[in-house]
Amino acid sequence: MQNFTFYNPTRILFGKGRIADLAKEIPANARILITYGGGSVIKTGTLDEVKTALKGFALFEFGGIEPNPTYEQLMDSVELARREKIDFLLAVGGGSVIDGTKFIAAAIGFEGLPWDILAKHAPIKQAIPFGCVLTLPATGSEMNSGAVITKKATHDKLVFSSPLVFPRFAVLDPSKTLTLPPQQVANGVVDAFVHVIEQYLTYPADAKVQDRFAEGLLLTLIEDGPKAMKEPNNEAVRANLMWTATLALNGLIGAGVPQDWATHMLGHEITALHGVDHAQTLAIVLPAMMQVRREEKHAKLLQYAERVWQLREGSEEARIDQAIERTRNFFESLNVKTRLSDYGIGKDAIPKMVSQLERHGMVALGEHRTMDIDASRRVYELAS
Ligand code: NZQ
Ligand code: ZN
Repeated sequence: MQNFTFYNPTRILFGKGRIADLAKEIPANARILITYGGGSVIKTGTLDEVKTALKGFALFEFGGIEPNPTYEQLMDSVELARREKIDFLLAVGGGSVIDGTKFIAAAIGFEGLPWDILAKHAPIKQAIPFGCVLTLPATGSEMNSGAVITKKATHDKLVFSSPLVFPRFAVLDPSKTLTLPPQQVANGVVDAFVHVIEQYLTYPADAKVQDRFAEGLLLTLIEDGPKAMKEPNNEAVRANLMWTATLALNGLIGAGVPQDWATHMLGHEITALHGVDHAQTLAIVLPAMMQVRREEKHAKLLQYAERVWQLREGSEEARIDQAIERTRNFFESLNVKTRLSDYGIGKDAIPKMVSQLERHGMVALGEHRTMDIDASRRVYELAS
């Protein structure tokens, strides 16, 4: 195991009805900007519930944050927050709203052009405190310090992270996820699955707890993902999925182990250019990624085959082939398609995706930093 510092300051308020506890989490004199997405929280009543819980606070609203939140749009909110002297943010929604809110929190007091936070990794010296009410279990953004923001004008989908943008708290009420369309439920399962894989399917590091935790999360997703699709009103299943998605990317299973993240980086370019949902891009890239890098990941692929898919028979190569096939079938069983062509993206689109990777400096990816542009091209080609 490598040396590590594990830090996570986010308080979790888990369970039905926990929105009622919001007022205790926010300073009484705060001027709060509530951020939300395209309107699902209005339709489902969650926004009203939040406002009722925060009666007496100075409340402002910024709605309409799109999936894959854009710099252009978020800057409007930054303006509003500066104008109204906002000193607390509350994100109500999925990963896009929470990521967008992290960016707003960092941009409000940023000196210079806030896009530099993403494009140049300009250091963040301060951020407005914020909390969140999660409505879509998937990204883990509710308990981590990362965010992904897109500049529409240039098709740049970039990541930033800072310990200053950990949410102060996250309300995780599984009953709030019952209104999700099936496609978003499936997306969440796939995203969480791939988050675990990025931190697990690398090379052995003698990190027994991290491995077993990771395998436990994968097994839970395999068991309860399909159940959530078949029994859309089953709250117990939603509760397990919600906590799994949070633990998949809150730093715990990634502490002290090598990490990959190449699948995400290749996926981001597909979203930036073609607007495909984040989780769908991961379902496209991962099976091909495993195939292209099977030598580098040989030992962990075998462990994954045995402990996650119970594959113990046959040659090592045959077990690895089966594990990759099971992974693909799992995504497809959730109706998340696994080929570029399923989304109307032809082979002719690959050179542009590859050149975007190059432009973004994604030329030495993976746990060994050996995944170059040629390897990325091979992954896209195999995924087509
Ligand atoms: O916008 P509204 O109207 O709210 O509708 C949303 C949106 O259309 C809807 N939705 C959310 N909760 C709902 C609901 N509909 C009905 N009932 C509910 N309870 O779902 C749609 C998708 O929402 P979005 O927030 O975009 O999805 P997700 O949570 O998957 O977030 C995706 C974004 O997170 C980034 C992705 O790149 C993408 O931009 N990620 C962030 C990460 C992080 N911060 O750690 C890691 C991830 O790897 C990922 O990259
Ligand atoms: Zn993801």
